[in-house]
Amino acid sequence: MEKSDIGLIGLAVMGANLARNISGKGFTTLVFNRTVEKMTRYIEEFGNDHLSGKENIEQFVTSLSSPRKIIIMVKAGDPVDEVIQQLIPLLEKNDTVIDCGNSHYHDTIRRSTELQAHGIHFMGCGVSGGEEGALHGPSLMPGGSVECWELMKPVWESIAAKDFSGAPCVSHIGEDGAGHYVKMVHNGIEYAVMQMIAEAYDLLKKAYGLSPDQVADIFDRYGKGKLESYLFEIAVPVLRRKDDEGDGYLIDVILDKAGQKGTGKWTGRDALDRGVSLSTITESVFARINSSEKNLRSVLSKHFQKSNFKTNVSLEEFSRQLESGLYGGMLSAYTQGFELIKKAAEENSWAINLSEIARIWQGGCIIRAKILQFLTEAYKSSEKENPFLLELKEIQNSINSALPDWRAIVSISIQSGIPTPGLTSALQYIDAMTTERLPANLIQGLRDYFGAHSYERTDKKGTFHTDWI
Ligand SMILES: NC(=O)c1ccc[n+]([C@@H]2O[C@H](COP(=O)([O-])OP(=O)(O)OC[C@H]3O[C@@H](n4cnc5c(N)ncnc54)[C@H](OP(=O)(O)O)[C@@H]3O)[C@@H](O)[C@H]2O)c1
Repeated sequence: MEKSDIGLIGLAVMGANLARNISGKGFTTLVFNRTVEKMTRYIEEFGNDHLSGKENIEQFVTSLSSPRKIIIMVKAGDPVDEVIQQLIPLLEKNDTVIDCGNSHYHDTIRRSTELQAHGIHFMGCGVSGGEEGALHGPSLMPGGSVECWELMKPVWESIAAKDFSGAPCVSHIGEDGAGHYVKMVHNGIEYAVMQMIAEAYDLLKKAYGLSPDQVADIFDRYGKGKLESYLFEIAVPVLRRKDDEGDGYLIDVILDKAGQKGTGKWTGRDALDRGVSLSTITESVFARINSSEKNLRSVLSKHFQKSNFKTNVSLEEFSRQLESGLYGGMLSAYTQGFELIKKAAEENSWAINLSEIARIWQGGCIIRAKILQFLTEAYKSSEKENPFLLELKEIQNSINSALPDWRAIVSISIQSGIPTPGLTSALQYIDAMTTERLPANLIQGLRDYFGAHSYERTDKKGTFHTDWI
């Protein structure tokens, strides 16, 4: 019997759809799942000449053509290690194991080193786009050796989504953990973008009393302009959906407690460890934490003064300002995320290309958006490799034109007492990074006073300490 091109382990939503995508592109694909019945049912439904399954892992491995290429799509964490341990004795030198789950990049680096000792290659590949993406075209962020990348490139390029110019949304990200790192930051940016969209909804609802359908009309317009993106696109049907179990809108009965699986927290923690300013993503994680305190918020809401501020800005003008402010907010969040990737790449010696990262996020993934085409081109047009976005003329122009509207909506939110930590922190980041003299001089003075921590001077080089008392 002919051996299969690709093996895939893990048939929950992601693996099941990815295997159908890969086999549909002409690569013979063999699947395996810990719970055998799941595999049997899957093959009964979707099996064909290119897609088949095996009941045990030994048969699965021996039925793959060499060098073997095995994708693991199981629950992140210990299950990935368990599967790897089962595979090691069955594999041969030069086989490749590819973890396509949401693994932490530290684990990916550790697994790469461990498998290398056995002569087995390891790729950590970020996959974004949920189940639809896995089936019809995800954005793929493969990390690992160039050799592995070349080996898997035909598969990745044929299954990936397409960017705005029709090229596949995949690129070799860098060595070992680079792919999973970039996927982690992608998810962090996703937190920030979703937070700002939710804040825009809240402002339109609370400051202007709009119904979900009226907010959806405005978002529908935004989604056809410079904010064109998957998340604005899906916000429209989410807002318009009527509740099957009642008379009103479903959105009005969805509990206001946001869940999280941890990739936003990983991103924020990583930024703190590296000393990179990532306020908007981190604020978005805190906003989800605040949302989870529903009972406490309900009690406290009865004990604090409500703002009675009423804006006299017309809805038409406000929705225009909001679009502009959101655009600025998105640029700020992307800038922070890209700077984090750049710092991590420097520290891990990953040869990362930020223009390529912006490009492969143009399609397939959850944060796909028109703005990424703009960022791709901005990075490409720069003579400097991986420049700081705020140094580029086109980004400066875009942010400068957004700033007055952005300040206006943030000040309305503050005066109205409507929390907008995403939009506000994004603006504060821009204000801080573009302020020549910050009050950190006073912080240094205080530190030197109480702890003799010393300070530098503006007028001469060196480190100084003053005997303050
Ligand atoms: N869902 C999404 O939208 C999405 C998007 C991007 C990335 N991801 C990532 O993709 C990966 C897969 O996600 P998913 O939602 O499809 O599945 P999942 O619910 O995270 O995991 C379920 C799969 O893992 C297997 N599994 C669990 N523990 C195992 C163990 N100890 N040994 C062997 N297999 C084990 C299960 O096998 P059994 O059937 O035997 O239980 C099942 O196939 C995860 O890392 C996830 O974070 C998910």
